[in-house]
Amino acid sequence: MMADGAITQRDYWNGEVGARWARNQRRIDAVFAPLTAALFEAACLRVDGSALDIGCGAGDCAIAAARRLGPRGRVVAADLSAPLLAVARERAGIEAPALAPIAFIEADAQTHDFGDAAFEQAISRFGVMFFDDSGAAFANIRKALVPGGRLTFLCWRRIEDNPWITVPRNLVLPLVPEPEPGPADAPGPFRFAEAETLNAVLAQAGFLDITLEAIDRPLTLARSGDGTARDAAEAAADFATELGPVSRLLRDQPASVRADALKRVSDDFAERAVSGAVSLDAGCWLVSARR
Ligand SMILES: C[S@@+](CC[C@H](N)C(=O)[O-])C[C@H]1O[C@@H](n2cnc3c(N)ncnc32)[C@H](O)[C@@H]1O
Repeated sequence: MMADGAITQRDYWNGEVGARWARNQRRIDAVFAPLTAALFEAACLRVDGSALDIGCGAGDCAIAAARRLGPRGRVVAADLSAPLLAVARERAGIEAPALAPIAFIEADAQTHDFGDAAFEQAISRFGVMFFDDSGAAFANIRKALVPGGRLTFLCWRRIEDNPWITVPRNLVLPLVPEPEPGPADAPGPFRFAEAETLNAVLAQAGFLDITLEAIDRPLTLARSGDGTARDAAEAAADFATELGPVSRLLRDQPASVRADALKRVSDDFAERAVSGAVSLDAGCWLVSARR
């Protein structure tokens, strides 16, 4: 199971990328907040119910689920990444001690035995696009749901539908070697960009009533405290180059190239800032399916 070059997804999310996500957790959760709100509105979690969070990362959605389920609810949150789970456990101890208990478990969603018919709901915010065997993973998640139980998740549509990524990416591309295009179905953020692929994999796993809603939301990458465009632009450029496809372009580049990239993105973002905030659109599938 290869992530980048020769490393496995487990290595990938336990290495430098996991560490980056862990240290940027607060910013990521703030930027994704409008998408998280759409996810929870669609999932409609029941008070006292049970939820499984797939690829829970640093725990934002698991904690939000625990809030909705209340103290008699139950949340299991699974991820491959030890550093992200460590952040999640610490946060849950501070932010959610009196809410539904959350078990954060280091587990591969493709193979872990979550129990049969153990959850009313499964949710995921961008945690389902990295499986080697998506069919096995979704079948395993389906098995964990009660009959009629619902899976609700977010995944990215095409990269072209995501200016928050393409704008900085297009500014950085001239500075770095042309990236090699990988196979479209390889694990990665855009592997379910095509509705047909996603529908087919969920249907093959046995899910019913599959719906894919295209949602577009402006994401505020950064906002300055005093409304100045430059501060917001610098913070937003730092965010945009620290994570995701743009960070991968820059990962092996010398410091001078990284500094040029940051400046190019920051200059562009300063032009886009409105009232001290830099916002760009994101396009996702909000997916719902029933066991
Ligand atoms: C893009 S991150 C999203 C994290 C989190 N849901 C969020 O929105 O902040 C993808 C997450 O999926 C996890 N992941 C990848 N493959 C997995 C697998 N097979 N089983 C469980 N988690 C996995 C990664 O470790 C990572 O934390």
